[in-house]
Amino acid sequence: MELNQLATTFKEVFNETDYRSFFAPGRINLIGEHTDYNGGHVFPGAITKGTYALARKRDDNKVRLYSVNFEQLGIIEFDLDNLDYDKAHDWANYPKGMLRYLREKGYSISTGVDVLFYGNIPNGAGLSSSASIELVSGVMFEKLFDLTIDRVELVKIGQQVENQFIGVNSGIMDQFAIGMGKKNSGILLDCDTLKYEYAPLELEKHLIVIMNTNKRRELADSKYNERRSECEQALEMLQKELNVSALGNISSEQFEAHKHLITSEVLQKRAKHAVYENERTLQALKALKAGELAEFGRLMDASHRSLRDDYEVTGIELDTLAEAAWAQDGVVGARMTGAGFGGCAIAIVEKDKVDAVTDAIGKIYEEKIGYQASFYEVSIGDGAKEL
Ligand code: GLA
Repeated sequence: MELNQLATTFKEVFNETDYRSFFAPGRINLIGEHTDYNGGHVFPGAITKGTYALARKRDDNKVRLYSVNFEQLGIIEFDLDNLDYDKAHDWANYPKGMLRYLREKGYSISTGVDVLFYGNIPNGAGLSSSASIELVSGVMFEKLFDLTIDRVELVKIGQQVENQFIGVNSGIMDQFAIGMGKKNSGILLDCDTLKYEYAPLELEKHLIVIMNTNKRRELADSKYNERRSECEQALEMLQKELNVSALGNISSEQFEAHKHLITSEVLQKRAKHAVYENERTLQALKALKAGELAEFGRLMDASHRSLRDDYEVTGIELDTLAEAAWAQDGVVGARMTGAGFGGCAIAIVEKDKVDAVTDAIGKIYEEKIGYQASFYEVSIGDGAKEL
């Protein structure tokens, strides 16, 4: 859907023609999975698909939100003075949570708003449609009400919405990638210190392809929170001898020397993934900077295997896509991206082989899984902004 079509819809829904337009992307994560809440490194990038918001201030206290993606829910309306989570408000809890925490932090948002949302990230696909709507809402409130909000602060408020308002114990990667993204760059982020650096992602002869399992998953009802608490338990056992505050601060050598402290085999596997995945992420950035794309791909493959065997968050759909990709000529590396349990995988593919590669993977997938996967080429774009 184009912006001018959205303008027409805005007029139909709110009977108004003055509005401002905002956009926040989705994200992919190249490597560094399930490391953010373990105080490790991640390497995501913002994509050019995302969420649009067309918005105007009102003269009263009403907040009226409408999503083109959820037309059947109509306008969701509430009052500025009642910003409690409400199950019936469905997707609108994301902007509502942003509004609530911005106000709680003292940002002056003194009137209601009319907002039309439209997203072109498939939701439930693991490309962070929820963080995208959080950040587009955040930037919209910031600009409409002339607030000055440090971008990393806005990113943290997005995470707070996810954690406290929605109830998913997620880390900071998605909101950070979406708030801080930069065209043609990945972001290496240390989730412990929030130090970050951009790394150019212009791959001359290659493309990044998103492979969607078309298996939906919702973080709230997945095993996401369970994995997080398993890591916390493993860390606690390691802390009997190691003076560290996060699994992301432990080297693989330290881990090997102390892993006997983790008395459960399952917890040991979870911690192993977190520790080694963090190291792989740093190695991957080094390889990318040195122009060693093959090594980068090898680390991506290793990441997927670790998520499959030790962290156990892939599932047959993601494994089928990744394994089919590994078998194709022209694929440099492939892995699941995001939380897992369905959603999307990514592959780095030679440009002139993309069609042959995706055809072949698509066939294998449909034969094994019984329905089709979808494939999209990725462009890495900017973070959340006013248009
Ligand atoms: C989801 C969460 C992120 C991160 C990833 C896994 O996308 O929102 O914080 O934990 O899963 O790497």
